[in-house]
Amino acid sequence: MSSDINIQRAKDHDNLTDTEKKHIPVIEAPSEVKAGEPFDVKVTVGAIPHVMEEEHYIKWIELHLNGTLVGRKELQASEGKAEATFTAVGTEEMITAREIRNCTIHGFGVCGTCGTKSAIVNLKAVESCNVHGLWEDSKGIEIISSVVKDGKKCTWGSQL
Ligand SMILES: [Fe+2]
Repeated sequence: MSSDINIQRAKDHDNLTDTEKKHIPVIEAPSEVKAGEPFDVKVTVGAIPHVMEEEHYIKWIELHLNGTLVGRKELQASEGKAEATFTAVGTEEMITAREIRNCTIHGFGVCGTCGTKSAIVNLKAVESCNVHGLWEDSKGIEIISSVVKDGKKCTWGSQL
């Protein structure tokens, strides 16, 4: 399962090994989305397509948004392609939770006054290869609030 302690990640995204290129999930998603509006995320395994043969294939792909499972697609070798498309939705609650934690304009724990509010939340894909085990990758996606106040847009540090 995705909580497995043996999950593998890219050691250096700029210098992936061939095994990493075939297993690290590639996440295609918009860089920013509006809260409440569903968006599609395509996950492909991997940058070099993984084989889908009876003795060696990708068993499933999962997508998580902000630590919550969005969906899981079970795969068969006969499907030929290790990819899945999920529909996710960011929420106003994700933005509220983030703004109490860290705003680079107002400081730690004191935001709530920015104009256009947003939060960068974590989008994580996990896949399971029947031979090489579990692999994951993640990226930040900015959720924009539909509630707009006067003032500047929130800006965020690089932390997820
Ligand atoms: Fe594999």
